[in-house]
Order: sequence, then structure tokens, then C-alpha cells
Amino acid sequence: MSNIILSQIKIHEKYGGVVPEIASRNHIYDISEVIDASLLDAGITLNDIDAVGVTYGPGLVGALLVGLSYAKGLSFALNKPLIGVNHIEGHIFANFIDHPALTPPLISLVVSGGHTHLVYMKDYSSFQILGHTKDDAAGEAFDKVARSLGLGYPGGPKIESLAKEGDPYALDFPRAMINENNLDFSFSGLKSAVINYLNKMNMTKQIINKADVAASFQQAVSDVLVDKAVRACKINNAGKLALCGGVACNSFLRDNFEFAARKNNIEFYVPSKIMCTDNAAMIASRGYFSLLDGYTHGLSLNASSALKIGERA
Ligand code: KG4
Ligand code: ZN
Repeated sequence: MSNIILSQIKIHEKYGGVVPEIASRNHIYDISEVIDASLLDAGITLNDIDAVGVTYGPGLVGALLVGLSYAKGLSFALNKPLIGVNHIEGHIFANFIDHPALTPPLISLVVSGGHTHLVYMKDYSSFQILGHTKDDAAGEAFDKVARSLGLGYPGGPKIESLAKEGDPYALDFPRAMINENNLDFSFSGLKSAVINYLNKMNMTKQIINKADVAASFQQAVSDVLVDKAVRACKINNAGKLALCGGVACNSFLRDNFEFAARKNNIEFYVPSKIMCTDNAAMIASRGYFSLLDGYTHGLSLNASSALKIGERA
């Protein structure tokens, strides 16, 4: 009914990444106003809601505690159920908002700043991890490569727009683990390959075509993600693939997925861009399905910074 997003990008931009203490302090300043604005936008009052859904992990514990404490207060004061939501599961459930006809079973690929997971969802509450990154997440690789190109934070959108002017096959960066017989990923080697290339060019005083670097990097990430996601669908006989997470904002990636899915007779789903990056509606969506399952929490629920997908508190 509403989806208010108060971004802190402007605050953290000058540090080149999120500063945890500053993030949680700003959450404290803003949380009441954000909730008021969301109710106003939805045209309802707190009495009209059925339950309070809140992210309790994974993530930065300070930031999680602000939301969780506020949600517990609301739940207690309103005498309505509290539903702790796993942030990564939330990303997957963004798909059910934008595609109401989509139902499990499905394969989901979560590509965010902190996570790269291939998940098989038999139903709304079962999450079988088929593969994950062994080191950096896809979004983290975008951010680090952007930083080494001097593009600033967050790197994903900056790489995407620069890549439009570059040749994706100008430089042959590694597609790690693409030939391995598993559904895992690795992006730190790719990141190092880009950084080594930039260092070598700088040391030999050669001109760097940053657009070619961005485009070739993006192509390498896309190739691996598409290959493993399609493979996951085939192995599990799954006809539906749902992409999600901040990196899924990337139009080049979205197009490549759509093309590969069509070629392999797989139905492809991805949320609208605003639903791909962190937002409240995706948490509400996961909370809604938890409530239908009768899966709610007590006020003793604690933040869990390393919460795993599918893990229950
Ligand atoms: O899901 P998200 O909003 O936050 C986490 O839970 O991590 O994802 C943020 C990540 C950042 O690494 C950011 O660089 C990346 O998503 N991202 C993109 C794009 N927009 C955001 N990566 C590639 N292309 C984009 N257009
Ligand atoms: Zn996220």
C-alpha cells in the first residue's frame, strides 16, 4: 500500500561505503517519520494493520536493532503479532509483489551487496541453497571495481551507465568457476583481475578505456550468473526463475537473463527496479506469507547479523 524509502546514500557516499554507526544513528532519527509517512501514503492508521513485519537479520547489528526495537514497541502497544523477517528472503519475496501470479516451485537468484545465492523454493517456506559465493558478493564486486575506477559509491549504477559506452569483449576477464560442476560463485578473482589490469596500465603509462573495463567486467559477471542460474533450473527441472536483489536493477543483466530464459524455455521474473534494492515492501511481502503460515515471533526476538536463509528463530 506504500513503500517509503529513506536512502542514506548521500550520507555515506563521501566515505565510499556504509559506516555502521552513522547508519544506525540516522535510522533512529528517521524511523518515526518514515512510519508516519508510510501510513499517510497508504491512507490508513496503525489500528488498521494486521501485524508488524521487521527485518531481524542478516546485516549490521546496530541498524537491525533500531528497526527491531521499534517494531517490538509497535507490536506490544498495538497488541498485534510481530513477524521477524530474513532480509535475503525479503529480496526473493519482492517478486511476489510485482508478479502476483508467480507461485513456487521456483529457482531464485539473489544478487545483492552482501549476498549471491541460488535458492530452490519448493513452497513459500522452504529454501534449499543450491549455490552461493565463496568470497565476494556480486554487488560487492561492482562496488569494489567502481571504486578502483574512481567512480564512487554505490558502484553498480555507475558501472552500468559507463559500460553502455564500452565494448563488453574488449578485455577478457575471468569467469570464475563457470566450468566447475557446482552452482557456486566466486567474484574476488574477477575483482583482482580488473585491479591488476588497471595497475599494469598505470605503471606502463598506457591510457585506460574505463568504459571498456566497465563493460567487460559487467559481461563477465553476467555470463557467470546467467550460466549457473540456467543450469540450476535444468538440474532441478524448474520452469521458473526469479532474479532479485540490488544487482538485479542492472538492465544489461536483466536483458541477458531474459534472453537466456527464453532460449531455454524458462519463465523469467524480476521485480521492478525500485523493488530490487532494499525496501520495506519486500519485507512486508515475506511477513505476509509468514503470517499465513502462523510463523510469528515473541518480544524476545533478537537481531541476528549472520542469519542464514531459511533459518528459523
Ligand atoms: O540489495 P541491496 O540494495 O542491498 C543489500 O542488501 O546489499 O544491494 C545493493 C547492491 C550494491 O552493491 C550496488 O552496487 C548494487 O546492489 N547495485 C547494482 C545496481 N544498482 C545497485 N549493481 C549493478 N548494477 C546496478 N544498476
Ligand atoms: Zn538487501
